[in-house]
Amino acid sequence: MRAGAGLTRRLLLALSARPAVGEALERMPVTRPLVRRFVAGAEPEAALAVAEAAERRGLRTAVTYLGENVRTRAAAEAAADVYLEVLDEAKRRGLRCAPSVKLTQLGLDVDPALCLAQTRRIADRAGEHGITVWIDMEGSAYTEAALDAHAALRREGRGVACVIQAYLRRSEADFRALLAAGATVRLCKGAYREPADVAFTTRDAIDASYARLMDAALDAEARRAGAFTGFATHDARLIERVMSSARARAVPADAFELQMLYGVRAELHPWIRSRDLALRLLVPFGLDWYGYFMRRLAERPANLLFLLRSRGR
Ligand code: FDA
Repeated sequence: MRAGAGLTRRLLLALSARPAVGEALERMPVTRPLVRRFVAGAEPEAALAVAEAAERRGLRTAVTYLGENVRTRAAAEAAADVYLEVLDEAKRRGLRCAPSVKLTQLGLDVDPALCLAQTRRIADRAGEHGITVWIDMEGSAYTEAALDAHAALRREGRGVACVIQAYLRRSEADFRALLAAGATVRLCKGAYREPADVAFTTRDAIDASYARLMDAALDAEARRAGAFTGFATHDARLIERVMSSARARAVPADAFELQMLYGVRAELHPWIRSRDLALRLLVPFGLDWYGYFMRRLAERPANLLFLLRSRGR
């Protein structure tokens, strides 16, 4: 990574935790089209429309209701209610979109028991429709709690999947334990600002970690245990590597999937689908877009130039 780009990325990630900046951005008319590139719209309907079009094209889908770090019981319950509505409406339309939830939106900072209860409500409704709930991974302060919640719900027999961030130094041990237990796991690079003692911070080290974990997911041992991995990345080199590693190990195509975010590198979709590989599109919606949007900017600081150049137009 170039030094300047690294600095911009760190700055954007620092700003992603400052909601006041979000309020200022919201007042800039130019923000809206750029946000819309990454966020389907304010209402569930917008996400369902995108999911419907994607499923018609043969993609799998997931939806995320934007929001994090709620401070009240009522807000946590309301967020879970939105997911229940989305699940019911998706079923009515014959869609299979899976909730991808953030535990801090479901009350983790308020009371872990409240958060578990809300996640359980969503998993139960999703389970009625035969759908797995993905538990997103947030900053490293929440890693342990997310893994615990995932393990608890899994022990109860609920259909939940969790996320491992390749940039965390602890992830190799966590990921191997999940694979050995036959879990369903999303492998991503990691999107938060983490200190060097907790996470790899250079692009090369993060990519190397991702490749190592990818190989573990495709190894015979993980497959014997019944593990399933969603490789979440827009990095064409890593996607190519998933394809070649799976081929070299004769891994059947139904043992894994690729996952990508709405609005990012959609030009790669036909390439992945042409290899008969499953691809899941994660579609965010909701008004609380700020943290999510800033993390997307940090991944490609060139998007920021677009925002700045358009200012005042
Ligand atoms: P990388 O950042 O190296 O990008 C690869 C290529 O894609 C580059 O060419 C880059 O320019 C382009 N690209 C990437 N992001 C872009 C953007 N925003 N705009 C335009 N181009 C872009 N993280 C997390 O911490 N917890 C989680 O639960 C999840 N969940 C999740 C689900 C899914 C389906 C995906 C795809 C990603 C996540 N992430 C996540 C985010 C993930 O950790 C990571 O931050 C991003 O995917 C960016 O990393 P890439 O692997 O895409 O590579």
